[in-house]
Amino acid sequence: MKTVTLTMPLDMHVHLRDAEMLNTVAPLTSYSFSGALVMPNLVPPVKTVEDVRGYRHRIKVAMESDDFEPYMTLFYQNYSRDFLISIQDEITAVKLYPSGVTTNSEGGVESFDIESMRETLEAMAELGIVLCVHGETNGFVMDREAEFMSVYEMLAQNFPKLKIVMEHITTREAVEMLDRYENLYATITVHHLMITLDDVAGGMLRPHLFCKPIAKRPHDRDALLKIVLEAHPKVMFGSDSAPHPRHAKESCGCGAGVFTAPIALQLLCAIFDEHDKLENLQAFVSDNAQRIYGICAEYKEVVLVEHDFVVPQMYGSIVPMMAGETLKWSIERVD
Ligand code: DOR
Ligand code: ZN
Repeated sequence: MKTVTLTMPLDMHVHLRDAEMLNTVAPLTSYSFSGALVMPNLVPPVKTVEDVRGYRHRIKVAMESDDFEPYMTLFYQNYSRDFLISIQDEITAVKLYPSGVTTNSEGGVESFDIESMRETLEAMAELGIVLCVHGETNGFVMDREAEFMSVYEMLAQNFPKLKIVMEHITTREAVEMLDRYENLYATITVHHLMITLDDVAGGMLRPHLFCKPIAKRPHDRDALLKIVLEAHPKVMFGSDSAPHPRHAKESCGCGAGVFTAPIALQLLCAIFDEHDKLENLQAFVSDNAQRIYGICAEYKEVVLVEHDFVVPQMYGSIVPMMAGETLKWSIERVD
């Protein structure tokens, strides 16, 4: 039977939420990952030193293992240099949401006025704090990410020393943007390697596959697959695992988010194996992120085996992607 050993897998984009939901999902991520970049879009969002400390503490309590590091993020607003100096040791990145483009992003950026953002972004570059961006406009839903490319260019050109991560990219346009600027990087989810808009809405509507940015066209998925399978050095795994309770997904007014935390590594193994590229999985799920972020992850070894795994129908109140379906790979053990 085929096996794969991954060392120190990292999920560089995850939503752990808070309270009861946090208690359900934190152990699922900390079981198979050494660390994860934790998104700040709580209600209210994570914006102060107290918010970061309090949330980190609650995550640590909710996790069931010590060998997991939550890499903390702040919700972007214009912060002063002094504030960023005071918080730099407690955060890894600042996450920028354009206002209103996704779940809990109402307090995000209204307009990209480079001059008003200059102090914050220059200080982040100086201090080595990464800027993570949800790159969508409020245009037509299939075009939102492509329309955002001009904002990435403006940021990359004006702040050449700032590391900018294009989060959860879904389009050929974003893939093409990656190599145009040295300081642009990207995360890619596992679901965007697997599905297109057809899977979400081409037949019966499948709310558990609905997320922002929405899955796009086959040629977009192929462009993502190509750079992921070759473990492009500027690309990292970020699940964007985003749990919502079942009633909030299976309702009119379905919240955006696909919950993949407990099945992400199994699905990645299947994809890399299917394309005969298993040797590149380690770089995609860990090495690239460690190098880009300058992270030295907690030691962990995850052994996966080509053996059926039936995805549970529910984790607490959450329906995972592929609930009830059989995956080809499973986690054999974690050391
Ligand atoms: O689908 C999504 N869900 N995309 C996001 O950007 C946010 C996330 C969430 O927080 O639910
Ligand atoms: Zn997200």
